[in-house]
Amino acid sequence: MAPIVSENAEWFSVLGYTTIMAYPFAIQAALKLNVFEILHQHGPLSAQQITHLLPRPVSNPRAPALLDRLLHLLSSSSPALPHPLLAASLSPPSTFLYSLLPSAEYFLKDAHGVSVGEYLSNRSIELVNSLRHLDSVIVDGGDGFHKEFGHKVSHHIAEHADKLDGVMASVTAMLMKQILAVYDGFKDVGTLVDVGGSTGYTLIHILDKYPHLQGINLDQPHIAAKGLPHPRLKHVGGNMLESIPAGDGVLLKCVLHDWEDDECVTLLQTCKKALTSGCRKVVVVDFYAPDLVDGAVPKHHFAIVMMGTHGGKLRTVEEYMSLGQAAGFTEVKWVCVVNEYAVLEFLLS
Ligand SMILES: C[S@@+](CC[C@H](N)C(=O)[O-])C[C@H]1O[C@@H](n2cnc3c(N)ncnc32)[C@H](O)[C@@H]1O
Repeated sequence: MAPIVSENAEWFSVLGYTTIMAYPFAIQAALKLNVFEILHQHGPLSAQQITHLLPRPVSNPRAPALLDRLLHLLSSSSPALPHPLLAASLSPPSTFLYSLLPSAEYFLKDAHGVSVGEYLSNRSIELVNSLRHLDSVIVDGGDGFHKEFGHKVSHHIAEHADKLDGVMASVTAMLMKQILAVYDGFKDVGTLVDVGGSTGYTLIHILDKYPHLQGINLDQPHIAAKGLPHPRLKHVGGNMLESIPAGDGVLLKCVLHDWEDDECVTLLQTCKKALTSGCRKVVVVDFYAPDLVDGAVPKHHFAIVMMGTHGGKLRTVEEYMSLGQAAGFTEVKWVCVVNEYAVLEFLLS
């Protein structure tokens, strides 16, 4: 006889608020256990079969059952998030064969050996701890990262840039492909300076698309020293707030969102001094705050995460434009939006 089931849908959706953090940590565990790569190479597979292929020795006899539970979550649909796995029921019906869905592509390693999923793995704990302070961020100001760790996230990123650059490179590879398909503003630049460009992975995509272009990558000396090789790319170590190598174009990708308004204006004024000839433009590529109608749920998640880590500093596109005006650019243009990134141009006549 089938058991009596009494479930309250509202209760379950409320419970979902408190347990949603299971998702990034389940992804993290699947990444650490190489599950996506295993399924990519050998799938479809059952949890039992995957267990035999795990990258480290398994001492827990219940490992296949526990892994199965994890894979259930990654195969169950959610209104806000695409699930990366497809589960097909076998006989007996409690056994499932798992395979990858298209969104799992982001959890597979790219040519640099990293995946966007690693971005999640690197950030989850810091995010959770920063987000605990959202109420205080709203009422008292400041940012959750500083309240939790005693220093600003920009300081943390600068300190850990060498660990983050592989992850940022992977995210950038996907983003730049999309940006370069819709934005052609680099075609009239002769020398492009990527300010805070890490090891130069963004510039390499742009240089490969525009063979006439010369690239200069400016980052902190210990990051620039590890710069990626490219025949038209020069790496310079320095402090972007003090001096920027000369060029006719400057790129600021995912840099402004780490800094306060007055620091951004100082940085943009330093960029202005570097624009000595030619088209004289700063291209800003950065996250922006979605408005209510614009925002799919993950965009609003992201806005709240930025509030936790960076305080109220996730800017609207209009606020980015005001920074360009405050720094004294003659024209500021909002050119396009690609995913959650806005592309703007600040021009000097
Ligand atoms: C959030 S990362 C962005 C990296 C890259 N532009 C991207 O989009 O992936 C910020 C970068 O700014 C660099 N940075 C921070 N402070 C800097 C400074 N004072 N001078 C030069 N670079 C700096 C960091 O080392 C890091 O590579």
